[in-house]
Amino acid sequence: MFGHGPHFCLGALLARAQMMALFGDVLSRTTWLDAAGDPVLLRSSFQRGVKHLPLRWQS
Ligand code: HEM
Repeated sequence: MFGHGPHFCLGALLARAQMMALFGDVLSRTTWLDAAGDPVLLRSSFQRGVKHLPLRWQS
């Protein structure tokens, strides 16, 4: 996920901490997530990404 060798991602620890905080918070509110629309992808020739990912959940 974060590459390997001399170019291993420098932001891996930050990215993991951010994902732990995000999913920890969201999953403390619900155990049920569903798509609420189509994802909007980043338009870039440099990197891939998701700009918007509408979700709905039940509390
Ligand atoms: C989920 C989030 C992220 C993913 C999946 C990811 C993934 C990767 C991958 C696969 C590489 C290796 C690219 C290669 O081998 O050429 C890389 C490199 C790198 N990443 Fe990330 N990254 C993430 C977040 C971040 C963040 C938050 C930062 C900075 C704050 C960051 C900074 C870098 C840098 C500077 C490199 C280049 C390292 C080098 O070439 O020595 N990344 N990342």
